[in-house]
Amino acid sequence: DTVGKTITCKAAVAWEAKKPLVTETIEVEPPRAGEVRIKILATGVCHTDAYTLDGFDSEGAFPVVLGHEGGGIVESVGEGVTSVKTGDHVIPLYIPQCYDCKFCTSKKTNLCSKIRATQGKGVMPDGTSRFRCNGKQLFHFMGCSTFSEYTVVAEISVSKVDEKAPLEKVCLLGCGISTGYGAALNSAGVESGSTCAVWGLGAVGLAVIMGCKKAGATRIIGVDINSAKFKVAEDFGCTEFINPKDYDKPIQEVIVEKTDGGCDYTFECIGNIGTMRAALESCHKGWGVSTIIGVAGAGQEISTKPFQLVTGRVWKGSAFGGWKSRDSVPKLVDEYMRKELKVDEFVSFTLPLDKINEAFDYMHSGKSIRSVVKL
Ligand code: APR
Ligand code: ZN
Repeated sequence: DTVGKTITCKAAVAWEAKKPLVTETIEVEPPRAGEVRIKILATGVCHTDAYTLDGFDSEGAFPVVLGHEGGGIVESVGEGVTSVKTGDHVIPLYIPQCYDCKFCTSKKTNLCSKIRATQGKGVMPDGTSRFRCNGKQLFHFMGCSTFSEYTVVAEISVSKVDEKAPLEKVCLLGCGISTGYGAALNSAGVESGSTCAVWGLGAVGLAVIMGCKKAGATRIIGVDINSAKFKVAEDFGCTEFINPKDYDKPIQEVIVEKTDGGCDYTFECIGNIGTMRAALESCHKGWGVSTIIGVAGAGQEISTKPFQLVTGRVWKGSAFGGWKSRDSVPKLVDEYMRKELKVDEFVSFTLPLDKINEAFDYMHSGKSIRSVVKL
């Protein structure tokens, strides 16, 4: 019985920026009041993990246990925890839902800010860490730290999901898939019969395509500089493909011509300020909406001519697909279980923890949509 005791287990530790992760034996303290300790069974590897590992995240503190796209089983809960119990299958949430803050009580946003300050500093809400390795304290990451056999998270950062769902698949609903799918359905609000264009056909872009298709879009144009991405995009519902490298004029001109004035909805799923502009300027005058999902480098700024907005185009963005996390993730899992939402199709590689650095290599080389690490 591990309840109330420190657990010794394996974790992939990021000791410093720009160095590979190291599989270490770490100690994970029991959950304190309002916290949950989870046995993680699987985790995806996402760009935000790489971004922080590469030292680009100004908030990023080392040494740290990265990972935020996980699935696991509750091992024990701290004092006062009522929403989950030992044995529950759960997905940790990097955007929590406290039901109490001004963001949670607003219908307009999913950006719960209850624990934002401590989460950004890599510690639990009481300001301390639950992880140690060789006597050194390790920081938490995005309130999740899923690159560990055991992790501790705030109760408000836990969604309870159907225990029949395979965690090595639905863990991906903790970030990339939900982010793209919700951007189309919630943030943009794509309508039946629309013409859409999606920049970047990675996991996020494919999930956007899935959302556009679900909403009944009739034309879904995929834009990527890697033509090898088109086949899988077609399987997800992409109807046309454009490789900007095939044209010697700005891609927004090409798209405006092809679509009789522009798209109803466009999405940027790369994190490149140039493609953000192209996506906005590919929108139809009067009503086109462009949604930014990709995370640009720290300090970068976007630009366009204000006339683009004066003439009715809308520039917006979203995080975690606009989903109120604890309410929505269990429903997304149910949608997957009813075979109405693709998840398996996103998994290119499944690897053991000690091969986690290969998952980063596959991501950087574009060989994977997603890699899942099984713990
Ligand atoms: N123009 C068009 N396509 C591009 C460009 C470009 N200038 N640069 C990159 N791409 C394509 C890549 O070829 C790739 O297919 O964008 C796609 C990005 O896919 P992934 O690297 O798999 O990224 P993904 O996991 O989908 O995440 C997309 O969202 O999480 C945020 O900011 C994060 O960069 C990440 C983005
Ligand atoms: Zn809240």
